[in-house]
Parts: sequence; C-alpha cells; structure tokens
Amino acid sequence: MNRDLIKLDSNENQLEHFFNVNECIRMVNPKNYPEVTNGEVREKIASFFGVTKEEVFVSHGSDYLIKALTFGLVRGNSEVIMPEVAFPTYEIAAKIKECNYIKIPLKNYGIDLDETLKAVNENTRLIWISNPHNPTGTFLEDHEIIEFLRKVPPYVKVVLDEAYIEYVHENPLNTIEIYKEFSNVIILRTFSKAYGLAGARVGYVIARTEIIDEFKFVIGPFDLNSYGQVLAAKAIEEKDYVSKVRDINTKALKLYEEALEDLGLEYIKSYASFIMINLGHRATKLVEELKEKNIIIKDGKHIGMDGFVRISTGNMEQNNIIIEKIKEFLK
Ligand SMILES: Cc1ncc(COP(=O)(O)O)c(C=O)c1O
Repeated sequence: MNRDLIKLDSNENQLEHFFNVNECIRMVNPKNYPEVTNGEVREKIASFFGVTKEEVFVSHGSDYLIKALTFGLVRGNSEVIMPEVAFPTYEIAAKIKECNYIKIPLKNYGIDLDETLKAVNENTRLIWISNPHNPTGTFLEDHEIIEFLRKVPPYVKVVLDEAYIEYVHENPLNTIEIYKEFSNVIILRTFSKAYGLAGARVGYVIARTEIIDEFKFVIGPFDLNSYGQVLAAKAIEEKDYVSKVRDINTKALKLYEEALEDLGLEYIKSYASFIMINLGHRATKLVEELKEKNIIIKDGKHIGMDGFVRISTGNMEQNNIIIEKIKEFLK
C-alpha cells in the first residue's frame, strides 16, 4: 500500500476509528468459520432501528446485496427500473440476470421520480432509488419519496439504497418510518462509508421477512466473514464517530463549494461524501495530471458523467491539497 497516495475516487472515509480496530480483530480466530447467523451484528442493527432481527439481513457489502436482490426477486419476464446514471451494479446485476431493465434519465442531475412512475408496468418488480444519489450527490426529501411510494403498486419492490444517508441526517433512523408505512420498501445500507469499514465489506438490508426469504437463498452460509462481523457490531455503537464524520464531511463540502465558486467552476450540490465538478473537455486531463502527483480522483466519463470529475471528500489536509492542485491546473 502506498501511504503517500491520496485516493479520493471511491468515497472511502478517511477518519480513524475511535475504537481499537486491532483489538477487535484480535478477538477473531481465523481457523473457525464465522458465526453462521451473523447474530450479534443483526441484533445490534435491529435494536438500533427498532425492527426485529428477522427483518435484518447482512452480507459482504451492499454491492453483493444488490446482486442478491436482483437475482432473488426478479423472475421470468419481470422488469427492473433504475436511473440512467447510477451505481453501476444495478445494471450489471440486471444484465447477469438477463432481465429487462429500463433506465430513466436524470432530471437536474437527480432521480426523476415522475418519469420512474410512468415507466412502471405490470412486469415491474424492482425499482432502484439511491439517496443521496451516486454519482451526482443529489438528495430526495422524505416527502418526495413518500409521495412516490403512495403511487407505486404494491407488487413492485422499491429499494432505497442509502449508502450515504448518514452524511445527510443527524438522525439516520428517519427512513425506518417510511419502511414501516410501506411493506414493499427495502432499505439497503452499508458500513463502507460513514462507518469507515469499506475494507471489512459489510452491507445490510432491512426488509419484511417474506422479502428476505425470497432472496436469501442466493447467498451461501458463512458469507460475511468473522472480521466484518466483529467490526460492524462495534462500529454501529459509535454514534459519536458517525457524527464527527458527518461534521467533517459537511465542512469539506462547504470548502469545495466556496473554492469552486471562486474559481467559477460549475459543480453539483452534493449531500454525500463526494462532489461532482464540471470541467468539460479538461476533465480527463485533470484526472491524469493528478494521477502523476499520486492523487486519484474519478473521471466522470467512466460513470456516465462525461466532462465531470468526482472527488471524494478527504480529510481537511487532503481537501486543501486538491483545491490547490485544481487552482494550479486552471492557471
Ligand atoms: C450508491 C451505492 N450503493 C452501494 C455501494 C456499494 O457499497 P459496498 O459494497 O461497499 O457496501 C456503493 C459504493 O460506492 C454506492 O455508492
């Protein structure tokens, strides 16, 4: 691992944990299989959200859960609806499953719920809504989602992929109220972002048990390794850590916004842990120049946003370095 590398292309969290990660890892005996029910981590997630343990399903990363949900819930000639520019696994999973899928263009860089509704037909089984949205960082308010859900037929399952929700809400429990009202809602979350455990690979679903029963057969036993289990069980208790992560991220986004406004660069207002900047024909050049300096950011052309770069918020030192480099680049 190159310690000098500034890696801001995958929205990883840069803040050190408050708890002792090494001590936690030492509790694991790698000779044994992981605890097969993922009991402790499911129990802690369940009590955090006030749902039953049976409504919680964990796996090795929400990326894999996206595939499991698609493979398990979409059958025969069922269709999936997703935003045109979105987290790529929605489309990859649909392609592997060989099901029909409809891509809805973004509206003002955000998810277009009206057009999504219009695309629903009798074959629709699954809708992907990421909130905040990756890669653009836009955000749908609860009332917009509720209004949308009221019009979605009950045979359609709606996944709220909330990989970045902890960056928006001081109370990250709010969508549970939505979940309680709508039995076709599936909440998908991850420990990779605000909880700072991307390397441990832990994601989870909160859904009605009937829905979990429909897709869980896709995932084998011992899927979530022992290290992921102990780290996630510890991290979910760290409310102060997540609050600090959120505060730092809010400051970082503000820093970028102010700098980009000073530079006259267009950006998309973000609610997540990254920011999309419009550099037009100069985007790829900036990505390449920064790479030569050991700084990795995402070229929008690889994620459906040609002409943009996506930069994950880093620690303040990293953010200041990037802003300086952008200034130098523009000279
Ligand atoms: C919207 C969204 N969903 C899901 C994921 C997958 O996260 P993980 O597999 O690390 O849980 C990501 C990762 O960047 C994401 O941005």
